[in-house]
Amino acid sequence: MSSSTTQQFKNPRAKHNFQGRTCSITGVGSYVPAKILTNAHLEKMVDTSDEWITTRTGIKERRIAAENEFTSDLGAKAALRAMKMAGVTAEQIDLIIVATITPDMPFPSTACLVQRKIGARKIAAFDLEAACSGFIYALEIAQQFIMSRTYDTVLVIGAEKLSAITDWKDRNTCVLFGDGAGAAILQNRPDSHGLLTAVMGADGENADLLFMPGGGSRCPASVESVQSRMHYLRMNGKETFKKAVQAMQTAAEEALRRCELKISQIKCVIPHQANRRIIDAVAERLGAHPDQLFVNLDKYGNTSAASVAIALDEAVHSGRFRRGDLILLMVFGAGLTWGAAIIEW
Ligand code: ACO
Repeated sequence: MSSSTTQQFKNPRAKHNFQGRTCSITGVGSYVPAKILTNAHLEKMVDTSDEWITTRTGIKERRIAAENEFTSDLGAKAALRAMKMAGVTAEQIDLIIVATITPDMPFPSTACLVQRKIGARKIAAFDLEAACSGFIYALEIAQQFIMSRTYDTVLVIGAEKLSAITDWKDRNTCVLFGDGAGAAILQNRPDSHGLLTAVMGADGENADLLFMPGGGSRCPASVESVQSRMHYLRMNGKETFKKAVQAMQTAAEEALRRCELKISQIKCVIPHQANRRIIDAVAERLGAHPDQLFVNLDKYGNTSAASVAIALDEAVHSGRFRRGDLILLMVFGAGLTWGAAIIEW
C-alpha cells in the first residue's frame, strides 16, 4: 500500500491483518432545501436579534425543508450526488446506513425509504441514532464491513429535518438548527490509507442536557404531550456548550495520538457546525490554526447528523484539500455522544 502523502503517520489499523485493504471515501454529496430562513426572519418570529444570534453562534441563516420534503428525500438527493462522484450505480451499493434523529417516521427506517428512492437492490438498510455524532459513528460502522470484506460499497448518509422538532416559540433553541443532508460512498481503495481511525464515545449520565421528551415509549403522543410541547427538542445550552468543547478536544487528541500525528500535520479540520464559539474554543485548545478550520455554519446552522457530512462535501468541492492530505473530523451531540476521525484523503 502506498501513500501519496509525504507526511509520516501511523496507521492504527495496520496491526490487523487486512492484507492491504483500506476503507476510503470515494464520493461525497450534499443537499440542502431551497428555502432560506435568515436571522432577520427569526427577528419577526421570536424576541431575538441578528446581532445576538451572530455574536453568540456565528449563524446567519439556515435551510428549511418544504412541508412535503422529508428526511429521506434530503438523504436520497445527497446520496445520488455522492454516487455520481464515486462513479457508483445504485446496483453496486451493498449497505445503506442513515444517521438521523429526525426519521420520516419511527418505523420503517429512513434508510429503507432511501433504498427505495435511489433504486438500490434489496440490500441491508438501517438507521443509526447518535444525534450530531451520527455521521462519524456511521463511518466507523461502515468501515468494519469494508475491512472485513463483508461488503465492497457502503452508502453512509447524515440527514435531518430538524425544523420538524424545533419549537419555533423557543428563542433559546429555534435560532440554532436547520435542515439538510450529506452522504459518502465508502469503498476499498488500494492507493490510500483512507479512514485511519475513528474515536467514538458516549455519556448517558448527561442524557438530559439535550433531548426530546415526547413521542417515545416513555411519553407517547397524547393531547397533553402536544399541549405541553413535548414533541420539540429541549436543551440546556450552557452545559452542552462546556461538554461539547471538552468532548471534541478529547476525541480529537485521542485520534491524533493513535496516528502519532501533530495537529499541524492536518490539512483541514472539519468540526461539527453547532456554534462558532465552540469551534474556536476547541481549535485553540488543540493548537489548530484558524486557516485549518472548515466552517459553513453561517449558511446552515446546526444540521445535527448532516453537519460534518455537508461540510466535508463543501470542503472537497471547494478544493480545501487534495488526494493524500490528512483531514480531521470531530463531532459531539445529544446522548451525550462524541467522535473524531482522521482520514487520508
Ligand atoms: N436571542 C436573544 N437572546 C437570547 C436568545 C436569542 N435567540 N437565546 C437566549 N437568549 C438570552 C437568554 O435568555 C439569556 O438571557 P438572560 O441572561 O436574561 O437569562 C441570555 O441570552 C444568555 O443566554 P445564555 O444561554 O447564557 O447564552 P450563551 O452564551 O450560553 O449562548 C447558546 C446560548 C448559543 C445556546 C450556547 O449555549 C450554545 O451554543 N450551546 C451549545 C448548544 C449546542 O451546540 N447544541 C447542539 C448539540 S448537538 C445535537 O445533538 C443536536
